[in-house]
Amino acid sequence: MCGIVGYVGNRPALSIVLDGLRRLEYRGYDSAGVAIVGDDALLTEKKAGKLANLEKALTEGPDTGIAAGTTGIGHTRWATHGGPTDRNAHPHVSQDGRVAVIHNGIIENFARLRAELEALGIEFRSDTDTEVAAHLLALELDVVRTEGGQGAQALAEALRRVSRRLEGAFTLLAVDTAIPGAVAGARRNSPLVVGRGVGENYLASDVSAFIEHTREAVELGQDQVVLITPEGIEITGFDGTPVEGRPFHIDWDASAAEKGGYDYFMLKEIAEQPQAVADTLLGRLTETGEIVLDEVRLTEQDLRDVDKIFIVACGTAYHSGLVAKYAIEHWTRIPCEVETASEFRYRDPVLDRSTLVIAISQSGETMDTLMALRHAKEQKARVLAICNTNGSTIPRESDAVLYTHGGPEVAVASTKAFLTQLVACYLIGLHLAQVRGIKYADEVGAVVGQLQEMPDKLRTVLESMEPVRKLARDLASAQQVLFIGRHVGYPVALEGALKLKELAYMHAEGFAAGELKHGPIALIDQGTPVVCIVPSPAGRGVLHDKIVSNIQEVRARGARTIVIAEEGDEAVVPYADELIRVPRTPTLLAPLVTTIPLQVLSCEIASSRGHDVDQPRNLAKSVTVE
Ligand code: F6R
Repeated sequence: MCGIVGYVGNRPALSIVLDGLRRLEYRGYDSAGVAIVGDDALLTEKKAGKLANLEKALTEGPDTGIAAGTTGIGHTRWATHGGPTDRNAHPHVSQDGRVAVIHNGIIENFARLRAELEALGIEFRSDTDTEVAAHLLALELDVVRTEGGQGAQALAEALRRVSRRLEGAFTLLAVDTAIPGAVAGARRNSPLVVGRGVGENYLASDVSAFIEHTREAVELGQDQVVLITPEGIEITGFDGTPVEGRPFHIDWDASAAEKGGYDYFMLKEIAEQPQAVADTLLGRLTETGEIVLDEVRLTEQDLRDVDKIFIVACGTAYHSGLVAKYAIEHWTRIPCEVETASEFRYRDPVLDRSTLVIAISQSGETMDTLMALRHAKEQKARVLAICNTNGSTIPRESDAVLYTHGGPEVAVASTKAFLTQLVACYLIGLHLAQVRGIKYADEVGAVVGQLQEMPDKLRTVLESMEPVRKLARDLASAQQVLFIGRHVGYPVALEGALKLKELAYMHAEGFAAGELKHGPIALIDQGTPVVCIVPSPAGRGVLHDKIVSNIQEVRARGARTIVIAEEGDEAVVPYADELIRVPRTPTLLAPLVTTIPLQVLSCEIASSRGHDVDQPRNLAKSVTVE
């Protein structure tokens, strides 16, 4: 939620900040704004709506000299306090016009602070919680200067004092007209990373904002203030104690954050899935079928002691956890529960030292998941993160992490993150099974080989998507689409429905196929499209037969059945109005292949309906509020 960029160096800041915002726009697109420190002047521009509106205003407005300043900050907003208007857009500027602040998060005690500032005669110009930080910072800067503080250090000290007064979640970046060549940042419960350049430095919500300029980054911890100048990076705690940030190298290619000839990031990310899966497997499977998970910093004894697993996650990541439950319980025989992270801590789950909590998050910043993991740690459970974003909060606060190597996911709707999360879950399940001694040793050994075949199978699926695109154009005017599945096909049904809701703004629901007859079957009318995810007839044949019966039930009530079934499954043919074939895949791994047609379907339906596929309404990529 909200993207933040700061730059200080010797080059004009405006274009660097705007480029950074373009890469962060997926985090929020209700409004955008910049503040550049010019010649003893603060130049700001901000506009409601997407970044393009801001860029237009900057091009068409009078030449203020804004393009020349070499210190700047920029913001792209997902609105919380105050509607998405020009006046609520960031930056917010202090009453004396000297200090500009941008913010990601929620300042929970803002009402009290606002009342205090109003009593001092300060007039507020927005409905945001952020504006209090701008006014407080200007006041604190005056105090610090009276006490002898000077230059950039005064800005950092004033920001520390302000940060100590704020409650809630915040990343703040601030500049002061009187201090060109410095940007100060503060971080509590919201993301902020530092990019280290040569004669220039960067701050941003995530590394994609500065990846084209530098691959060297520094991770910030909780409750820290950072000061960047062209010459250096200084990090302290909110109390002023110097801190060493953890440096890390970004191995993503800058071009990975570009559309690369595709109409949408989502299409590109769907196409990248075979490689993302291959990269996530890379180096983790030995020739003898062993699973090697270096980043899992839990000892084998820790893993042997686990007697219960909870998976916590949100949205698409939660769906990957639902699939993982089937695989982990089957391979390890350890009871495994999956919960939406936003509900987890409120029901007081039973956790102790022998509980393993697996937190799944693409961004590593989802506040609901972060809060669930903190709760788990308070109860002494061990936490293992599955995450795609190096340097983010969730892996940093976990006992162990397994990174998915999906590369940057820019489209708001998650695609390659889902598939790589599935792979990471399979790897953890297999690793646990191997470490603990297993019931289905042969099966586990075979799965290792099957996983290695997945990138090629995914390529085959992607090559056969033309009929799905055609079908999508046909379904674009449907009122609703239902999805049914059994076993691991059930979470795939949920994922298919989620994609369609968020992208096409259509009514879509996913059901466990056996549940339909307990109520939802009443939704089916003449011609209602029902997407049926059919498991392999091999292996768990009984599941297959049951869903074939369910398909007949919906068809008898007038449904138009769209059946996703593997090559060679002839039993479904008489009941399929549309048939989408996927390669033969063992049941537990089948979600990797059956999800792709659903991603393509929702993407194409959304674009046929004229929606912005990469930036669906009301959403943001990284959800850093609870
Ligand atoms: C849906 C989607 C969301 C995310 C969810 C969790 O397409 O992208 O449902 O999966 O917000 O995000 P992460 O994985 O970053 O924790």
